[in-house]
Amino acid sequence: MELIDGKQISEEIKKEIAVKTSAIIDAGGEPPHLAAILVGEDPASQTYVASKERSCKAVGITSSIYRYPANISEELLLEAVDFLNNDEEVNGFIVQLPLPKHINADKVLQRISPAKDVDGFHPVNMGRLALGLPSYLPATPAGIMLLLEKSGIETEGKHCVILGRSNIVGTPMSLLMSRKSNPGNSTVTLCHSKTKNLSEITRQADILIAAIGQPEFVKADMVKAGAVVIDVGIHRIEDSSEKGYHITGDVDFDAVAPKCSYITPVPGGVGPMTIVSLLLNTFKSFNKEIYF
Ligand code: GUN
Repeated sequence: MELIDGKQISEEIKKEIAVKTSAIIDAGGEPPHLAAILVGEDPASQTYVASKERSCKAVGITSSIYRYPANISEELLLEAVDFLNNDEEVNGFIVQLPLPKHINADKVLQRISPAKDVDGFHPVNMGRLALGLPSYLPATPAGIMLLLEKSGIETEGKHCVILGRSNIVGTPMSLLMSRKSNPGNSTVTLCHSKTKNLSEITRQADILIAAIGQPEFVKADMVKAGAVVIDVGIHRIEDSSEKGYHITGDVDFDAVAPKCSYITPVPGGVGPMTIVSLLLNTFKSFNKEIYF
């Protein structure tokens, strides 16, 4: 069993990004600029946004956070999106999800200019992804593709089983893995809450990607010997330790890891790659690499 060290792979890519930003600054230019809109006080969202800001700083990308109270009206939030759409100093931005219930998140995401949509959630970017056209790829699936590539994992002709059909992970992941590309060229099965005989299907997986949002859902008897297991989950479980909690994924790591050829740990697997993908998308936006 080999551990896929997302932390180390992400640090290497961040170093490459830092070299590029230094070169821009040394040439007298302004570095890329990523902005984030954060609504309300959701602790997980605050952690994610703070972590994105730290990573930007570490590589020399300018970051700014626009904070709004949880009771902001949809209209004012749409105005904030318009402001960033028109701000020439901002190359790309994200609206951190989830949004409060009184706000229509789809409406907000659709208001983001596709050219600045570095999360890749706008229908134009999702549609381009489905068609195999150049687009901003959603950060978590793009990070997983990078992990597979950098770890030299063969995906062509393999059976890739994905647990979870979210717009953020499962659905775009299924599109990327079935694309005519490397990594890619897999035969993909997308499983969800209504899937029957789930274990029977997961046991057929050469590559199993768990994005189901339930702590330690994937047990050893659901995994074929020699499979590659990618764990997208991040759960904070309270315990009696000094810290008062530990972090676990969607996979029962201790039981599953010995059966795998490769597995991502949690933390230190997919998580750090997600942020790196966002930084790479910001650079793509800065370089106007994608034609809109
Ligand atoms: N909430 C959970 N994951 C994400 C993400 O990748 N982007 C945004 N904007 N919000 C999220």
